[in-house]
Amino acid sequence: MDFRGRWVLLTGASSGLGLEMARVLAREHGANILAVARREERLVALREELTSKHGVQVVPLVADLARPGEPKRLFEAAVAGREVHGAILNAGVTFYGRALEQSPEDFQAMLATNVSSLVELSRHFASHLSAHRTPGGLMLVSSMAGFSPLPYQTAYAATKAFVISYGRGLAYELRDAGVSVTVFAPGGIATEMLEVSGLSRKFKAGDLGIMPADTCARLAVDAFARRRELYVPGLLNRFLALAMKVLPQGFLISRSAALYAGGLKPGP
Ligand SMILES: NC(=O)c1ccc[n+]([C@@H]2O[C@H](COP(=O)([O-])OP(=O)(O)OC[C@H]3O[C@@H](n4cnc5c(N)ncnc54)[C@H](OP(=O)(O)O)[C@@H]3O)[C@@H](O)[C@H]2O)c1
Repeated sequence: MDFRGRWVLLTGASSGLGLEMARVLAREHGANILAVARREERLVALREELTSKHGVQVVPLVADLARPGEPKRLFEAAVAGREVHGAILNAGVTFYGRALEQSPEDFQAMLATNVSSLVELSRHFASHLSAHRTPGGLMLVSSMAGFSPLPYQTAYAATKAFVISYGRGLAYELRDAGVSVTVFAPGGIATEMLEVSGLSRKFKAGDLGIMPADTCARLAVDAFARRRELYVPGLLNRFLALAMKVLPQGFLISRSAALYAGGLKPGP
């Protein structure tokens, strides 16, 4: 895909991977950005940064994707008077801890952010993207956590497994319309998510297997532009993904449980 002078919508643009993808899209591809998140001040700062440094257009769109009605409102605002060429559905939240300690409200917000809003936005954008002379593409951000059940991020891993399965099925269905669907499945990334969830008790920036957000963003945007169907960034991650395909699942679950248990808060 060629993004130069075209609009790309990006959810989760206020921090981490989304923020870095916005920078790559503006700097290296000359894309105009529809930047989506809840924290408006961060989106406004991003607009100042990208317009002054790269001369692209940036429109902040404040939306809480965990709330019903927001995906439709967001889509309508995004396409009002514009052709959108790409939509990167990257916003996501995790819960690190024992599954039974996650409140029902927190789980519902996770499900709406990671799954329901992503499906709804995919539906809206799929027809919009196919209507143009050069059909555009969608990128759904999943995780390697979606490749196998992951104790202590149990519900999160299940949402990411959904994204992989949904994205790959949708990619097939949209082939004839010319709309690509890229599923991006990174391993650990050094972002706010590690601190906010408490995962930083176990994993830190600079650790083996924790990728800098800007490196990960460059690989993500490249995979999206090349219309890759499933992309795991980094050699180590690709090796692990291959191992996850061939090793017995019971073994994988117990090894990852042992790894993640190391950063848990003491139980009740
Ligand atoms: N960090 C990792 O190790 C890792 C590994 C694999 C996959 N991933 C995936 O990568 C994606 C980006 O995560 P990240 O690591 O960059 O995390 P992050 O720094 O915490 O960023 C998450 C982004 O999602 C937005 N967001 C969260 N809830 C939202 C809501 N209800 N409505 C609208 N926006 C919302 C946040 O914006 P506001 O708070 O401003 O709304 C923020 O911009 C996620 O899908 C995550 O699952 C992360």
